[in-house]
Amino acid sequence: ASINIALIIGSLRTESINRKFAEYIVSQMPDRVNIKEVDIADLPLYNQDYDDTTIDSYERVRQQLKDADAVLIVTPEHNRTMSAALKNVVDIASRPYKESVWTHKKVAVVTASPGSFGGINSGLDVRKSMQMLSAQMMIDPEIYLSRATDSLNEDGSVTELTQKFLQRFASDFVDFAGKLGD
Ligand code: FNR
Repeated sequence: ASINIALIIGSLRTESINRKFAEYIVSQMPDRVNIKEVDIADLPLYNQDYDDTTIDSYERVRQQLKDADAVLIVTPEHNRTMSAALKNVVDIASRPYKESVWTHKKVAVVTASPGSFGGINSGLDVRKSMQMLSAQMMIDPEIYLSRATDSLNEDGSVTELTQKFLQRFASDFVDFAGKLGD
C-alpha cells in the first residue's frame, strides 16, 4: 500500500539549507511513498478570530495534513526556537479547538544549522508543541545537523557522509510512517 507524507519546510528562504536536506531525504524514499510539500509561505498569521471564518489557505493546509499518514518537518532554528513560519502552521492546524489535525498524527522533525548546536532548540520546541497536541512523535533517531553548511558541496548537493546518515533516517521514517495500528 502507498504511504502519504506531508513535508513542511520551516524556512521560506530560496537558498534554504533545510530545503536542500529535506529534498535529499525525500529523494531517498521508495516509490510507494507519495510526498506532498505543504506550502506555508502564503498563510496569514494565525488569528483566533478566523476560527469562525473560512480561509482557503488554512483549509488547504489542514486538509493536506489530515490526508497524510505522517508529517516530516525540516526546519531551521530562529532565535533558539522554531521559525515563525513553522509555528504559524502548527497553530493553524491545531484549531478550531477539538478539530486539531495533530491529534495522533505521526510527526518527525529534522533541524539543520550552520552553527554548532544544529538547531536542536528548534527541534526540541517542535517536540514540545507536538507533545501538547498529542501527536505521535518519532522518538529516534533524532536529527540535528550541526555545521550543516559543511555537509553541502559547492553545488548545493549533500556530501557523501551526510547522505549515508540521511538515507538511514529516510528508511526509519518510512517504517515509522507505514506502521499500522497506532
Ligand atoms: C538564525 N540562525 C540561527 N541559528 C541557530 O543555530 N540558532 C539560532 O537561534 C539562530 N537564530 C537565527 C535567527 C534568525 C532570525 C535567522 C535569520 C537566522 C541562523 C540559521 O541557522 C541560518 O540562517 C540557517 O541557514 C537557516 O536555515 P535555512 O533558512 O538556510 O534553511
